[in-house]
This record gives sequence, C-alpha cells and structure tokens, in this order.
Amino acid sequence: MSAVTVVDHPVLAHRLAQLRDRRTGGDSFRQLISEVSGLLAYEALRDLGTHPGTVDTPVADGALAYRVAEVVLLVPILRAGLGMVQAIQEIVPLTEVAHVGLRRDDATLRSDVYLNRLPRDLAGRRVIVCDPMLATGGSLGQVCAMVRERGAAEVITLCILASAPGLAAFRADHPGVRVFCVAVDPELDDAGFIVPGLGDAGDRLFGPPD
Ligand code: PRP
Repeated sequence: MSAVTVVDHPVLAHRLAQLRDRRTGGDSFRQLISEVSGLLAYEALRDLGTHPGTVDTPVADGALAYRVAEVVLLVPILRAGLGMVQAIQEIVPLTEVAHVGLRRDDATLRSDVYLNRLPRDLAGRRVIVCDPMLATGGSLGQVCAMVRERGAAEVITLCILASAPGLAAFRADHPGVRVFCVAVDPELDDAGFIVPGLGDAGDRLFGPPD
C-alpha cells in the first residue's frame, strides 16, 4: 500500500476552512489553492536532491552551499491541477511541467483523457502529479498509471482534499505512489462529490466549462 501523509499544520487547516467556505469567491479561492499547493510541495520534497558547492558571501569566500540538482516533473491534471502549478514552481527550483487533461463523466464518474503532453520516456524521473481533488481516485489513478508506464522512478501525488473511499481505492491500485494531502473527508455523494468537501474545484477556479 502507498504511504499517505496528511499534512497536519494550523496554517493549512486555516486555509482549508476558507477553501471549504461556500462564500469564498474565485479570486480568494485561486489564491488559497496556490498557497496550499506550495506548502504541500515543500513538505513532499524534503528529500529533493542537492549538490554541495560554494558561494562567496559579503564576508567570506568559498562558503559551503547546497543547491538543488534534481529536475522534478510536475504533472497537473487539467483543469483544476493548473491552479497548483505556479506556487509549486515558485517554491521548487528546476521544475518542468507536462500537462494532462481529464474530464470526468457526470453519470459514470469515469474520466477520459483529452490532452496528454507527457514525455514518452520518464526513466529515472521523479514526477509529482497534481490535482486538488481525489474523489473516486479515478483521475489521479489514471494519470499515475500513465506516468508509471513511461518508467518514472518515483511518483508522488499532491491532492489538497481526498475522500476516504477514493483514497483506499487509489492506494490499492498504486502501491508505491506517495500521497500528500491536507485532509481526508469521510464520504462521496451520489454525484461523486467529496462530502463535506469544497465543491467543484475546477469550476471554483475557472468557472463552469460549458
Ligand atoms: C474533477 C476534479 C478532479 C476529478 C476528481 O475534475 O478536479 O480532477 O474530478 O474526481 P475523481 O477522483 O473521481 O476522478 P473534472 O473532471 O470536474 O474536471 P475539471 O477539473 O476540468 O473541472
């Protein structure tokens, strides 16, 4: 089974409360998704590879300094995952981004891929798949499978909110994929929404698609 880290921190809990609030408007919602995403990435990448080197400070030459040496590939799941990218890039040096677009069918709750910009070969790469919502887990699971088929060395998922049943299904299908989230809610409703959840993240970020 994959490891799940529910990042338990007051500054994240506060932002999640604001995200859940139906009165939070689009501008604030985008800002909150962004802030939470940067903090989740910070937590998920504690073991990011660094190289030792030197730096000349204002008072000493050749002081020991560590710089990030690893290029992490971010894979946002459109649309909602797009709202996570900029903040992660601002925190993590040397990222690249490969977009994947999925649309979940309202009736079947299955997702179809409408855009795939993944590199063919991901051998040796660490990949972070980003989607604020893990509801049934189908979308994140599908993209993790695509990434793993291409040979990624490590796959991490960042989702702000997960449902307990979706997370259980995801973990069973993707042992070895680490999950970082802010909270796990108990239920899914008949329409596949996380309960209590925060509504439709894609629509709150970008407006209704149709
Ligand atoms: C929503 C959400 C996730 C997915 C989660 O996307 O943003 O991507 O559903 O559901 P799952 O875990 O059951 O697969 P949606 O298909 O509504 O697209 P959008 O992000 O473009 O709004």
